[in-house]
Amino acid sequence: MRFDHKIKKLLSGQGLASARKHTLRSFRGNRFPLEKTRVIETIDPVAFERIRQRYAGDNPTEDWRKYLDLDRWITINIRRIRDIELDLARRKRILDLGCGAGYFLYVAQLLGHTGLGLDLDRTRMFAEITSLLGVRRVIQRIRAFHPLPDFGEKFDLITAFMICFNSHRRPNLWGVAEWDFFLDDIAKHLAPRGRIWLELNRESDGTIYTPELKEFFLKRGARIDEHKIMFNSGVHEPASTLPVGH
Ligand SMILES: C[S@@+](CC[C@H](N)C(=O)[O-])C[C@H]1O[C@@H](n2cnc3c(N)ncnc32)[C@H](O)[C@@H]1O
Repeated sequence: MRFDHKIKKLLSGQGLASARKHTLRSFRGNRFPLEKTRVIETIDPVAFERIRQRYAGDNPTEDWRKYLDLDRWITINIRRIRDIELDLARRKRILDLGCGAGYFLYVAQLLGHTGLGLDLDRTRMFAEITSLLGVRRVIQRIRAFHPLPDFGEKFDLITAFMICFNSHRRPNLWGVAEWDFFLDDIAKHLAPRGRIWLELNRESDGTIYTPELKEFFLKRGARIDEHKIMFNSGVHEPASTLPVGH
């Protein structure tokens, strides 16, 4: 890299962000190394193999078997952890909605964070994998216009990846009203300055959200990057409901 380019980069936002990451990484240097093989080595291979054998030949119409591919899912979840900068962050309490096999919380826990998952009790395989990984779960169906249960604790971060609870690919797909209720509700479970990180699935028509829903998320203070909807410090009231002058 040329010297003048280096200086420009240093003075730009990009340079400051990477300097910040570099400094934080050196502070957190004694953390568990975020490498796929090292993470997989921490999982009891015999117990995992028993689970694999029990479910590998399961009903092929139920797509859960794909979660037996540790290489793939640990790689994906290391990427998520880095994306959210949990590798750089102080110890966080995390709630993961629709936690599935629990790999995201497992990797987060290796880094010293604490986690609670929420999921349906649809497949025994998820119960067995989360139990093997030591990931705590609450069994609860997320339903439109119904509040989440009292977890008895607040969270610094609420996540949901590959979201299905919004009636994904079903005729009653959530719109603005359902998301509005949901955001208000999850905000009650956030600690001060808590963050929300949601990742939507693509719908059958190829879209992720309607223009109206995108505008609604933005009005509530989200940063949006394609399927990722991120709130850095709680969720705002929609601008339309704020008094004039705000
Ligand atoms: C596509 S999987 C994603 C699993 C995990 N988040 C991941 O990215 O690896 C969707 C998850 O959401 C859960 N789920 C679907 N509908 C739900 C609902 N209404 N309430 C709670 N969990 C739900 C499923 O049981 C499943 O674990």
